[in-house]
Amino acid sequence: MNLASVMKSEAALLLATYERNPVLFTRGRGVYLWDSNGKRYLDFLSGIGVNALGYGHPAIRKVLGEQAAKLIHISNLFFHEYQAELAKLLTRMAGLDRAFFCNSGTEAWEGALKLARAYAHEHSRNGHKAKWRMLALENSFHGRTFGSLATTYQKKYRAPFAPLLPGVNFVAFNDLDDLKRQFDGSVCALCLETIQGEGGINPVTPEFLQLARDVTKKHGALLIIDEIQCGLGRTGDYFAYQRYGVRPDIVTVAKPLAAGLPLGAILATETVASCMHPGLHGTTFGGGPLSCAVAIEFLKQVEELLPHIVETGDYFRAQLDQLATRHVGIREVRGMGLMLALELNSADLAKNIARRLLEEGIIINRTHETVLRFLPPYIIKKKHVDSVTSALSAALAAGSSSAPHTARKKQASARSNS
Ligand SMILES: Cc1ncc(COP(=O)(O)O)c(C=O)c1O
Repeated sequence: MNLASVMKSEAALLLATYERNPVLFTRGRGVYLWDSNGKRYLDFLSGIGVNALGYGHPAIRKVLGEQAAKLIHISNLFFHEYQAELAKLLTRMAGLDRAFFCNSGTEAWEGALKLARAYAHEHSRNGHKAKWRMLALENSFHGRTFGSLATTYQKKYRAPFAPLLPGVNFVAFNDLDDLKRQFDGSVCALCLETIQGEGGINPVTPEFLQLARDVTKKHGALLIIDEIQCGLGRTGDYFAYQRYGVRPDIVTVAKPLAAGLPLGAILATETVASCMHPGLHGTTFGGGPLSCAVAIEFLKQVEELLPHIVETGDYFRAQLDQLATRHVGIREVRGMGLMLALELNSADLAKNIARRLLEEGIIINRTHETVLRFLPPYIIKKKHVDSVTSALSAALAAGSSSAPHTARKKQASARSNS
């Protein structure tokens, strides 16, 4: 199989949901991927935040091999050894009490919304009716299923599937007055990402998050925080909200949790969790022994990596700040830890830079039109940051695509030999 034949077959056989880059990856090791032509790529996207330990991590491979030989799946009608152990680790890290395991980010988010409604039915009535409205934030992204779409802001994701779940309104991002204006006794949950991912790497302000906590508490509503992209070590803390000193009622995680296997989780306080009863929620695959055993190992590795994430993230951020002083095309540097971004002053520039870096063997991503997003594996070193920032600098200086192709080829081969 080569790239051309895979592209042809996919074009004929798959739903046309993705505009893939024309690269066929065949293997990975550490922070690098290799394509079918043997070309090496430095990965600063890590499968959109999934491959946080890079590729072929020895501890993950060991657990995978051993557990796959013992037991891959049993149904949730029976016990296995790892769900409680994983729940203990996650809840301790999150400062919450109970967990539910599922298969993806959007599934965790759907479950969180259901949990909020179940809580409202038991505890939080507005007159004779359970509270049911939800507030989310402008530019939010929570996934592709119906509840997640209903709380996701951008029209392009939502419009073709209307009508969505009713009763969701969007608050202007970080706007204290708008939150106060829109919050009333009919709201059962306020939903937010501590750092918006798809929306362009936008951290909430401490004032906004504190107000979100205060108004929800005051009105008996829940604060639901989506840490699917920014959680589990990405910012150098277990969870990004811990940098703000706020305790949410419900938290969702997924992406890197099982180091590349599909696994998501809902974490909740005891009071909120007590509203779920047998039969109200469930999943066939979620929380199987293989993914849970791997996730336990992932969390152990993350614990050790946190100081490294902070140090490398600070270094990367400083390099990006430096770039911003030299290149007029950069409008803003944003993010925390190893969740960073450059907002550029044009969508074309961002597109061309991402494409040019890919040609040079560096994977980054453009989100929200003008934003270059960096979600590297937690194991990157400063020398990898240097490679990326010098490639970015050259691309920005050239106004992206105008550099002669031969010069770009020379830079790329110099990098792969270093
Ligand atoms: C913040 C956030 N929430 C939810 C999701 C949906 O996760 P999944 O694609 O695993 O369904 C994503 C995916 O990018 C995300 O970034």
